[in-house]
Amino acid sequence: MTSKLTAGARMLSIGTALPDKVVTNHDLEQMVDTDHQWIVDRSGVHERRIGGTTAGLAAEAAQMAIDRSGIDPSTIDLLILATTSPDRQVPATASTVQELLGLSCGAMDLNAACSGFVYALIAAHGFIQMGHNRILVIGAETLSRITDWTDRTTCILFADGAGAAVIEKTDGPGDLHGWHVDSNGALEDALFCDFDGKIEMAGKVIFKNAVLAMENAANRSLEMANLTPNDIDLVVPHQANVRIVEASCKRLGIPYEKTSMVIHRTGNTSSASIPLALEDAWSQGRVKQGDNLLLVGFGAGMTSAAAVMTWDGV
Ligand code: COA
Repeated sequence: MTSKLTAGARMLSIGTALPDKVVTNHDLEQMVDTDHQWIVDRSGVHERRIGGTTAGLAAEAAQMAIDRSGIDPSTIDLLILATTSPDRQVPATASTVQELLGLSCGAMDLNAACSGFVYALIAAHGFIQMGHNRILVIGAETLSRITDWTDRTTCILFADGAGAAVIEKTDGPGDLHGWHVDSNGALEDALFCDFDGKIEMAGKVIFKNAVLAMENAANRSLEMANLTPNDIDLVVPHQANVRIVEASCKRLGIPYEKTSMVIHRTGNTSSASIPLALEDAWSQGRVKQGDNLLLVGFGAGMTSAAAVMTWDGV
């Protein structure tokens, strides 16, 4: 369902964290029957980062976002952690992150798989409409812990990382102009991980539906924002597969050159992938004040989410 939003919040700053340990495609050649060029051609991944805990990576990314924003951390009202790989089943990993950061605020996990960061961003805008002033939105994952490192069809894709953003109430209409969230539970068996299990995936099913879901979520959020694909300066897509992003851009009529891609060095980090790609573009000076950004993700569920926003951060 899509609803109208009157915003009133902006993204102030972003931060990221990646584990130190690099696993290259050549490393994977030693573990499963695969080769570097096959992985690059089929997915775009060259290497990925592995290690740490979800809470640890989340706190590192969040601290960077807080430092860059210049805000007093004691003014944060809520922490939303998007993750599909929490450190424990109970309690929410968000509570551990809150403690690591020394915050005094509400804290909760949100699981919408790889669409999680965009879901959390939209939820944060909703909480601000209900009276909160500052919210920390984080996407963090340690997918390496639920990856089957003997399965060449999945282990080439998944990895660990985190990205975070500080969202702040504004006097004006805010930076979020259009959004869309969706889920198609009929496809739950196409990508899943049972308790104590490892990720299982029907790659082709996910591929086909991901392209359609991204196109739909993007178009619905553009409609709400009253913008066209031509108005978008930068697309920040979920980093699952370069070919999925290329196909989606083609269907949307947006040049691939307008995307921010980090998958070659990060792999698929689920809810961390969109803030990682946003921060990469920002740190390279590709995100300027007033630019229209399209954040769009999809994931297990199958969920999808998109947000059309104007960059108004530091
Ligand atoms: N290395 C080498 N060969 C491999 C391989 C690997 N890691 N994995 C599979 N293959 C083989 C297959 O066995 C198959 O061989 P065959 O033709 O002899 O049967 C061949 O390569 C083609 O496999 P296929 O599964 O058709 O490849 P593909 O083009 O669909 O690419 C994925 C596989 C997983 C990269 C792709 O389907 C994909 O990215 N899907 C979406 C996954 C995704 O986005 N998941 C996260 C969602 S958030």
